[in-house]
Amino acid sequence: MIYLDHNATTPPDRAAVEAVRETLTVEWGNPSSIHSVGERARMVVERARDQVATLVGCQRGSVIFTSGGTESCHLALWSCLASDPRRQRIVTSRVEHSAVREVVRAHEARGGAVEWLEVDRCGRVDLEQVTTALSRHDDVALVSVQWANSETGVIQDVAAIGRICRGRGIPFHVDAVQWAGKGAVDLGSLPIDLLSISAHKFYGPKGAGALIAAPSTVVRALLVGGPQERGRRGGTEAVPAIAGLGVAADLASKWLCGEGVRGVLAVAAMRDAFEDRITRAVAGSLVIAGGVTRTFNTSLISFPGLEASALVVALSRRGVCASAGAACSSGSLEPSPALLAMGVAREAAHGAVRFSFGRAADEALANDAADRVISVVGKMASLGGSPP
Ligand SMILES: Cc1ncc(COP(=O)(O)O)c(C=O)c1O
Repeated sequence: MIYLDHNATTPPDRAAVEAVRETLTVEWGNPSSIHSVGERARMVVERARDQVATLVGCQRGSVIFTSGGTESCHLALWSCLASDPRRQRIVTSRVEHSAVREVVRAHEARGGAVEWLEVDRCGRVDLEQVTTALSRHDDVALVSVQWANSETGVIQDVAAIGRICRGRGIPFHVDAVQWAGKGAVDLGSLPIDLLSISAHKFYGPKGAGALIAAPSTVVRALLVGGPQERGRRGGTEAVPAIAGLGVAADLASKWLCGEGVRGVLAVAAMRDAFEDRITRAVAGSLVIAGGVTRTFNTSLISFPGLEASALVVALSRRGVCASAGAACSSGSLEPSPALLAMGVAREAAHGAVRFSFGRAADEALANDAADRVISVVGKMASLGGSPP
């Protein structure tokens, strides 16, 4: 089986699995308990906090553990809205993941103001528009823009957007769920106030993530309850998942400074060769956002005339796991809002399949996968679009 769906989720690293197991069986205490069993669990949580802080280059007190990317994004957005009743406008892009988009839509449905930033044909936010939005309105609660897109891999210039926000004193949230673990993050030198990450996207367990808040950013709890996470996220900490997140963050930090330096370039070159092989062989196929800076592992290829979900099923039968757009929107026949915002024609969006490679991908795997894709697409085309 060739797994090319790492943007949906990654296989947990064995060391992360071991950390989860050990925490379930050995350090199973409640970190809030002041006895020795609680103390051991607390040490696990605090070690993980240090490991996450190292991954993103922030102070340890900035790390707020959550259940994953979705909760981190929700906490960031609702917290900014709760901070000042006079500032109730969200500025965000048309290509955000549903974890952000649906919060914004919920806010809009309640009568809240929203400024949607359009994107160019490659899915990039126009910096001028950010400047204009912030000069036109004095009621902006926050700007929220993703670091990397889950479907196309397109990377936004978050440093430049952050500088515009800083210049106006507006909080800036970055959804870095598809970036953390794939590229460097140094919050100490970036104008970012809030950053969301999720463990299962970088070889950690599901059910763990973090919202990183700059020291000057006050975070108002969405989940109120106990005083955990310094009152910013109530509820007994999910110690096993947090332990796994910490180990995955540690491995990602080491990978990014070691093997990853060459690994990123090698996988990107292989991904490019994969795209080349397919687009040469399949008439009409095209790489969406192929010409711009993307995460090294992501490839979104449109096969016009074919339905992506049928193609994904047929590919799975041939041992290739891919995705019809974002995993969360699979199963829905509506093309992805992000692709439509980029001006991708409906037919091309319907036939867009995402292939996302892992850190360990090699040329043989990519060539094998490309050949299987070419053969399945050929068969489907000959059957008028039905899976073989
Ligand atoms: C860009 C982005 N943000 C947020 C999320 C949600 O993360 P989680 O699955 O941890 O809730 C995802 C998941 O695919 C994502 O790709």
